[in-house]
Amino acid sequence: MDRVLLLVPSASYRASDFLDAARALELQVIIGCNEALLLTGASGSLQICLDDPDSAAEAIVALDGVTPLDAVLAVDDQGTLAAVRASERLGLRGNPPDAVAASRDKLRMRTLLSAAEISQPAFAALSPTAEDAELTRLAALVGLPCVVKPTSLSASQGVIRADTVAEALVAVGRARSIAVKAGASPDQPLLVEEFVHGPEVVVEGVLTNGELSVLAVFDKPDPLEGPFFEETLYVTPSRLGATELRAVTTTTQAATRALNLREGPVHAELRVRGGRAWVIEVAARSIGGLCSRTLEFGTGMSLEYLILAHALGRPVDSLRRAHAAAGVLMLPIGAGGILAEVAGRERALAVPGIVGIELTIAPGRMLVPLPEGNRYLGFVFARGDRPEYVEAALRAALAELDVRLERGRPVRQRAAGR
Ligand SMILES: Nc1ncnc2c1ncn2[C@@H]1O[C@H](COP(=O)(O)OP(=O)(O)OP(=O)(O)O)[C@@H](O)[C@H]1O
Ligand SMILES: [Mg+2]
Repeated sequence: MDRVLLLVPSASYRASDFLDAARALELQVIIGCNEALLLTGASGSLQICLDDPDSAAEAIVALDGVTPLDAVLAVDDQGTLAAVRASERLGLRGNPPDAVAASRDKLRMRTLLSAAEISQPAFAALSPTAEDAELTRLAALVGLPCVVKPTSLSASQGVIRADTVAEALVAVGRARSIAVKAGASPDQPLLVEEFVHGPEVVVEGVLTNGELSVLAVFDKPDPLEGPFFEETLYVTPSRLGATELRAVTTTTQAATRALNLREGPVHAELRVRGGRAWVIEVAARSIGGLCSRTLEFGTGMSLEYLILAHALGRPVDSLRRAHAAAGVLMLPIGAGGILAEVAGRERALAVPGIVGIELTIAPGRMLVPLPEGNRYLGFVFARGDRPEYVEAALRAALAELDVRLERGRPVRQRAAGR
C-alpha cells in the first residue's frame, strides 16, 4: 500500500476531498499540519511548521526514515514549499523548490516571466521606504489604471485597482497594512501593475515532466473591474473562441516553462485581450476553496484523485471532464459584520441545475469583505448541458440566498441579476 504525507494548513478547505480520493486509491495517509490534527481516514499525523519549509522538510525526511513515504503533497498553497523541499531530498516526484518559491512570490514570478518575454502586464516593485514621488513615477511607467498588490498573499487579499495617482497612494497604504497584518515582512515591496482589461479565465492543469495537460478552462463571467476583485462565478467549458483558447493554453505552458514548474497541479489566471492572453498569475497548486468539486474526470475521478495518482506516477484512464458543463459560485461578501444566517438554502437548492451548496463560515462568525478578507462564505455548485445554463442556474440560486448579518440589514448580493 502506497503511503502519502498530505500537508494540510489548519484553515484548509481541501483535507476531506483529498482523504476521500486517497481512500479511493487505497492509500495510507499521514497528515502533516501546524497543529496535531486527527482526521478520519488518516492513519497518523505529524506536527510540523508549514511556514518554515526547511524545518518542515527536515521533519519529513526524519519521518521517512522510520515510515517510508511514496509521495509528499500539499493540499493548499501554504504547504507547497515544504512539500517540494522534502520531495527533492527524498527523490520523490515534485517541482524544483526554486520554481515553487518563485511562483509564490508575485514579484519573482513577474521578473521570470518578463525575462522569458511572456505576455503579461507591465509591472514595477515599490519599496516600503519609497516616497510618494516614486509611486507617481511608477504609475506613469506601468500606466493607469494600475493594480497595487502585496507580493505574497492570495484570495485577492490586498489587491486594489487605482485609476489615478491619488487613488494609488491610498491603495498602497491599504495594501501594505493588509500584507503586514497577514504576516508579511514590513520590508516586502508591493507590486504595481498595469491593469489588463478583458475577460478573465482560469486554467486548471497538471504538469508531467514539464508538459501541460489542460484539465479545464473556466470563464469568470462576472466582470472583474475592481477596485477589489472578489471571485464569484467560475464556469467551464470556456465560451472563448478557439483562437483565444489556444492563446490561453500556449501562454500558460510557456509561463510554466519560464518558471521551471515541471510536475503536478497548475492553477493559472489570464486575461484575454486582442486575441492575446495575458498572465495574471501562475500557481503550482490546484484551484482553491471547494471549487474543485465542480470537476469530475473519466468515470467519476475527482481532481484530488488525479493529483494524488500523478504524485505517485500511477496512470489514470482519462483526463476528460465528465460533465458537459459545470460551475461554481463563491458567495460574495457584500458587507462586513457577524453572520446571522444564510437564508433561502432550500430554495436555492431547488433551482434546476444546482447540485450542491456548502456554507463555509458558520453563523456567529465574522464576515470580512475584500480587500481585507480572505475566507470564502460558501460555494454553490451547478451542472448542465451548456455553460450558459450553468451560469443562469448559479445566478438564480444566488438570487434565492439572503445573507443576513446580526443586528444588521441584509447584505445586498452584487452578482445577482447581472
Ligand atoms: N494586472 C492586473 N490586471 C487586471 N486585473 C488584475 C491584475 N492583477 C490582479 N488582477 C485581478 O485581481 C485578481 C487577484 O489578483 P492576483 O491573482 O494577483 O492575486 P491573488 O491574491 O493571488 O488572487 P487569487 O488567490 O484569488 O488567485 C485577479 O484574478 C484579477 O481579476
Ligand atoms: Mg490569483
